[in-house]
Amino acid sequence: MRRWAAAAAAGIILIVAAGLVARALRDDAKLTLPAGVPTPAPGTYARPLGVAVRLDASRSDAVYARGWLEHYTSVTPENELKWEIVEPREGEFDFAKADAIVRAARRAGKRVRGHTLTWDIQLPGWLTSRTWSAREMEDILRTHVRRVVGHFRGRIAQWDVVNEPLDTDGSLTRSVFAQALGERFVDIAFDAAHRADPRARLFLNEIASELPSAKQDALVALARRLVARGVPIDGVGLQDHTTADAAPTQAILSRDIARFARLGLDVEFTELDVGVRPGMPLDAAHLAAQARGYAAAAAACRAARACTGVTVWGVDDKWSWLGPQWRATPYAADGTPKPAAAALRRALRP
Ligand code: XIL
Repeated sequence: MRRWAAAAAAGIILIVAAGLVARALRDDAKLTLPAGVPTPAPGTYARPLGVAVRLDASRSDAVYARGWLEHYTSVTPENELKWEIVEPREGEFDFAKADAIVRAARRAGKRVRGHTLTWDIQLPGWLTSRTWSAREMEDILRTHVRRVVGHFRGRIAQWDVVNEPLDTDGSLTRSVFAQALGERFVDIAFDAAHRADPRARLFLNEIASELPSAKQDALVALARRLVARGVPIDGVGLQDHTTADAAPTQAILSRDIARFARLGLDVEFTELDVGVRPGMPLDAAHLAAQARGYAAAAAACRAARACTGVTVWGVDDKWSWLGPQWRATPYAADGTPKPAAAALRRALRP
């Protein structure tokens, strides 16, 4: 009798626990946004105007959630698709956080960019704590890309398939992927992504390549080799994290776009932000310089058929990855627009 009672109690505890876990998972997959916020129709700007969005901030800060709903037509999950979150243990995939953003963004009519399938940062310990043979790594890479891109097939319009493959001197960064496979890891990642969603646009994304440099030359050369090898690459993403006092001009950015357009590739500014150095006053002059930095990228994109979008890296200064002291986004910490917000819209009017 007592044994029956114990078994029954254990059963009930199990059922309740399973219910709690299921609910937690469901909640994780949900993002409820503020109601009644007007969102721009897809054709509001001459190109999709995107923004990097964080799930935690979208849940806890209504000003933030309202900000991305109201001002942008494209969304990039800022961290939620990175390897450490999506495949924290080998072969175990967790899409709850990314799904929450992707569903909410699509419900609001926004295009979604997927960031990122391979990068040497924000990787899980299981992947970085040992070395892998070429065959093992090809297997790991193909499985990851197939599962992630496959999960979002038809819902994520573009992927940053490879992020930041190059060092400052233009050589291949010695990531776990490159160590096992050399440059071939790039081909494999693109091939796997294309197989998993043949309609998704596939990008090579790089940081600090906007100004003429050895790195920019190496990026052009890499893109050219990929095209020559028949790798299914559609475009190159230029991140363009910059500062008000050193932002590339429209002319420079137009030349950047042309270098890749000549290879038959699209270009997007994928992670634009224009910081004002901490300690500098946020006066009219700095605000104007910041606005010029933003407008330069938007106008260069607007002027080139090959440029398919501009994404700002962060909704407002409060949540910017650089910290609020850099004041790097077009919206202040309280969500009020700076001149950069209007400058972006003006440069991208249809
Ligand atoms: C950053 C995120 O914004 C941060 O929240 C995170 O802690 C680190 O990564 N280049 C990239 C982005 O490709 O993924 C980075 O995003 C910023 C630099």
